[in-house]
Amino acid sequence: MARILITSALPYINGIKHLGNLAGSMLPADVWARFKRGQGHDVLYVCATDEHGTPAELAAAAAGQDVQTYCDEQHEVQKAAGQAFGLSFDVFGRSSKAPNRRLTQHFAAVLEQNGLIEERVDRMVYSIDDARFLPDRYVEGTCPHCGHVGARGDQCDNCGRLLDPTDLIDPYSAISGSRNLEVRDTRHLYLLQTKLEQPIRDWIDSRQGWQPLARSIALKHLDEGLIDRGITRDLKWGVPVVGPDGGPRPGMEGKVFYVWFDAPIEYIGATEEWAEATGGDWRSWWRLDEGADDVRYVQFMGKDNVAFHTVSFPATILGSGEPWKTVDQLKAFNWLNWYGGKFSTSQKRGVFMDQALELLPADYWRWFLTAYGPEHSDAAFTWEQFQSATNKDLADVLGNFVNRIVKFTESKFDGVVPDGGEPGPLETKLTADVAAAVAEATALFEAMEFRKAAAAVRAAWVLGNEYLQEAAPWTALKTDRDRAAVVVRTALNLIALFARLSAPILPFTAPRIGETVGAADLSWPASDEDLFAAVAPGAVVAAPQVLFAKIEDAQVAEWADRFGGAE
Ligand code: 2FM
Ligand code: ZN
Repeated sequence: MARILITSALPYINGIKHLGNLAGSMLPADVWARFKRGQGHDVLYVCATDEHGTPAELAAAAAGQDVQTYCDEQHEVQKAAGQAFGLSFDVFGRSSKAPNRRLTQHFAAVLEQNGLIEERVDRMVYSIDDARFLPDRYVEGTCPHCGHVGARGDQCDNCGRLLDPTDLIDPYSAISGSRNLEVRDTRHLYLLQTKLEQPIRDWIDSRQGWQPLARSIALKHLDEGLIDRGITRDLKWGVPVVGPDGGPRPGMEGKVFYVWFDAPIEYIGATEEWAEATGGDWRSWWRLDEGADDVRYVQFMGKDNVAFHTVSFPATILGSGEPWKTVDQLKAFNWLNWYGGKFSTSQKRGVFMDQALELLPADYWRWFLTAYGPEHSDAAFTWEQFQSATNKDLADVLGNFVNRIVKFTESKFDGVVPDGGEPGPLETKLTADVAAAVAEATALFEAMEFRKAAAAVRAAWVLGNEYLQEAAPWTALKTDRDRAAVVVRTALNLIALFARLSAPILPFTAPRIGETVGAADLSWPASDEDLFAAVAPGAVVAAPQVLFAKIEDAQVAEWADRFGGAE
């Protein structure tokens, strides 16, 4: 049994997440956590809300709430949405909690002791009308690279370039809209990443398990040359900047750490929150000197987060000189697009997690977003594709198989698994084909190839349908009851197996599938086990309520109308 630490990128607190956020980090991390737990491993899946920085302050202001109240409420909203989607976090923490504050201040202190933090005086945008500095997203203006109007001070949404607020042309305050701005001196802490370039490069070289997308983004970043990075901000909400001794830091009163400095530290902080709640030992997951040397650590995230996880966060960890666990495997995802455009939280474009569940149960979405997700390239969400995937894969292939054979057992064998007969050549072939599909699905899940793994699971479902078609128990029954009994028994065993294969992606439906044949085991099958032994003669079967309803054209029309499409 291995110990596996899994983190998915921490969702910003600024409102419920859309399906693109879900598909690019939290959902695949959950599928993989379930797969690994199903194999019997000791998994800790950690997530949290990312509650600091300008996204939180601006969203709270827009909601007319103070930031603490806003974050308290939104954390609960996101937590409930995650539960409703079956995201099996061991902890869903908060970056605004005490463990993260303590850890963030600790890292800053050791980095400073190691000569890797320096105070510098910076030129920052100051709003005279708002009487405050305007860091990051508090300034908007025209992008100097692409001319996009409404670019934010930290990044242009149109061309994706990272920006500094002073880069913007015709800048204005995102708070008041005021253009009465000037550039003023202000004191900040800088992390001297330039001194860490070689250690980071060596560390990346030592990581064999990274996906090509993650490695290429990391190396591109290094090749472009690291710069020393401001890790504090003139904001009220965040982890307070303190001196190396933990006391107030002269000249930096009222300043906080930059959200991207403290957010990844919350992976550790949230583990501490888990330990507080459960009595677990968080250090054994994170400290190499306290047991974490046998932990395998896997991170899931969207591609825009890769540089922060492969360079910035490692700079913090490696620069500390302390024996912290670092990531072994990093799985990055592309974008899920909304009709060719982008999902957008700020512009409320697309389908959001709470809305999705008003339309259909979680497993419908989980299947589509896993089997057709933005894994190796961007993927588009359209209602038509969603309808087609659901109707074909879930209703026609999986749902129909289960229904057909269970109903047949009810009507012809009194709902009891029949005995008699011996397996023949068709069963021998089926057994081999299914074993191969299981082996393939196992290898693909192991490799975190989610689309292909889902396709392999689906291929196993298809084998079941093909077998029924060919073995035709309804015909056999007329002349040879024993032959029909063998086919029925074999097919009912396939149902038990399909429940297990479906469990990582379809956690709500898998137990219902298993229940139809009285099979409660949802563990992932080991390659050398007997795959057709779960359901014995004499067991009672019962047809399920509809497992998956087909999506009708009228529903597609209604949803397209409600949510819009290409604009
Ligand atoms: O991009 C985002 O949504 C960030 N909130 C991700 C943070 S990941 C981690 F480092 F905290
Ligand atoms: Zn731009």
